[in-house]
Amino acid sequence: MSQPTIESILQEKRLFPPPTEFAQKAHIKSIEEYKQLYEKAKTDPEGFWAELAETELDWFQKWDKVLDWQPPFVKWFVNGKINISYNCLDRHLTTWRRNKAALIWEGEPGDSRTLTYAQLHREVCQMANVFKQLGVKKGDRVGIYMPMIPEAAIAMLACARIGAPHTVVFGGFSAEALKDRLVDAEAKLVVTADGGWRKDAIVPLKEQVDKALAAGAPTVENVLVVKRTAQQIQMEPGRDHWWHDLQKGASGECPAEPMDSEDMLFILYTSGTTGKPKGVVHTTGGYNLYTHVTNKWAFDLQDTDVYWCTADVGWITGHSYIVYGPLSNGATSLMYEGAPRASNPGCLWDVVEKYGVTIFYTAPTAIRALMKMGEHHPNSRNLTSLRLLGTVGEPINPEAWIWYNRVIGGDRCPIVDTWWQTETGGFMITPLPGATSTKPGSATFPFPGIIADIVNQEGESVDGNNGGYLVVKHPWPGMMRTVYGDDDRFRRTYWEYLRPKSGEYIYFAGDGAHRDEDGYFWVMGRVDDVINVAGHRLGTMEVESALVSHPAVAEAAVVGKPDEVKGEDIVAFVTLEGEREPDEVLEKELKQHVVQEIGAIARPGEIRFTEDLPKTRSGKIMRRLLRSLAAGQEIAGDTSTLQDRSVLDKLRGGA
Ligand code: WTA
Repeated sequence: MSQPTIESILQEKRLFPPPTEFAQKAHIKSIEEYKQLYEKAKTDPEGFWAELAETELDWFQKWDKVLDWQPPFVKWFVNGKINISYNCLDRHLTTWRRNKAALIWEGEPGDSRTLTYAQLHREVCQMANVFKQLGVKKGDRVGIYMPMIPEAAIAMLACARIGAPHTVVFGGFSAEALKDRLVDAEAKLVVTADGGWRKDAIVPLKEQVDKALAAGAPTVENVLVVKRTAQQIQMEPGRDHWWHDLQKGASGECPAEPMDSEDMLFILYTSGTTGKPKGVVHTTGGYNLYTHVTNKWAFDLQDTDVYWCTADVGWITGHSYIVYGPLSNGATSLMYEGAPRASNPGCLWDVVEKYGVTIFYTAPTAIRALMKMGEHHPNSRNLTSLRLLGTVGEPINPEAWIWYNRVIGGDRCPIVDTWWQTETGGFMITPLPGATSTKPGSATFPFPGIIADIVNQEGESVDGNNGGYLVVKHPWPGMMRTVYGDDDRFRRTYWEYLRPKSGEYIYFAGDGAHRDEDGYFWVMGRVDDVINVAGHRLGTMEVESALVSHPAVAEAAVVGKPDEVKGEDIVAFVTLEGEREPDEVLEKELKQHVVQEIGAIARPGEIRFTEDLPKTRSGKIMRRLLRSLAAGQEIAGDTSTLQDRSVLDKLRGGA
């Protein structure tokens, strides 16, 4: 994050009240209304969520019990039967929304497609039938490795329809990373495309799938391939199938499977503090309700909106707020394949103008990159259709907030800064745009039903401006249920990290935060070994494991350093094996090696070769010191536990 200047912080103590006209038409119209909802949810969480579940969703069978909380394991809407694909599609078909645009898609080369709810339903059913034909049954896992094309959403909804949990792997991950996820999830089928367009080049997705399967993912029996970029690819007879071939014979009707509320909907891998990404498990009923209600209230979704979230479906933001949340609400969700690039730096604004986008949701890193490209790009497009702007992924610096508000929002759009995580399923701390006065850089207040707090290591609440750990004290419907195949890791990571004396289980998010005198939450960033590079979560250990898997590397320690656009960039301190001498060629090779092991998002910005790493006497790498060194700061704090002070002196000397 670019460091805000003192002047800007002082200036940005300003409050930005909700625009009056906006508030009058909003779902939640005032701060009093928010407070009422918050209090109601706090005193009777079960009643609060049950009422919403009844009014907002369609159930095949009602639940017996709203909440079953056996810390840290939770069940919502016990014995309820529901299908999220039904809630996203079928129930709209009997209303005027039947022929409303469900998905508007814009490809990077400028091609486009619109699918109405009826059309989307038909294609989802066809794909669901093809899945069945390929032997996929309820409970089987399906890997999805796709570009941002409608078929990515279609595949997710088709999985949900037949009760086959999906695991979407971001198309920017390498073959190696894809393989690890397919193996962990024991996927039976992979849905992919020949390629996707990104920055005027083809991302060869099918080729990566071939490599991943060759490296060993024995459970995968079939690969379904969507034609997108039409370059030459290998199709293995018997294993690989073209979607357009199988679609021809597939029926456009496929009844939605009645799923138990707690049946697994998907696994999504995210980085943690160990080398191995964890499979975050989300289930059906609670997730459906939570994404539906948060999307509706925090983005004030209305039937006339053209709603655009720029995330990729490979991340939780794409799951919850491109696919499930908006479609459950019967909204029009826009999907864009491309990214700002040299040949068209203003492409996002072209899309806003072309479709009259009303709600726009992106990340601070993107906003800062757009700021750098210059105001003339947005200024030369008509952006007056916009009425709400959202942000997610990392703390937003006040400069970026103010720019977003002024240049993109024309000083008329509420800025909705949503704090949440893969694990939380949906927004946790966020303004409600018709109710909350915002402060640049603050995600403001918890969503109704979310009992958020800031605590110390003992789990005790800390007051006022004292920083601490951000926690949640009561289960909510959208929360993750476990780490796939590793209940113990789930318990340790999120619920036993902080142990209040009362013995109660509280959810530890991994973020630090503080609260100001008005009760506003300010999320400061990760307090664990997770770094946030351009809004992407990466485990330092994950990158370290990738580095040490290179034969020249003996040891590696990875830290984040502040970066103006990306928020943080990766700096790797590396010691080499035996006689190997550091040089530029090796540096390039190591960076490339990380790309191959994880993907381009993990490419270290800088590699510093060193003879030794600073360690404590018990052999723990002192990352705190490395972080200061990487940022070019003076080493502050205690260094007395260092095993060998000369290591630090050498590093300082610019090894
Ligand atoms: C960070 C993305 C400050 C935070 C939805 C969190 C944020 C991690 C914000 C989750 C925000 C996300 N303000 N920090 N508005 N939103 N974060 O799982 O550190 O990819 O723990 O989910 O991103 O990243 P994840």
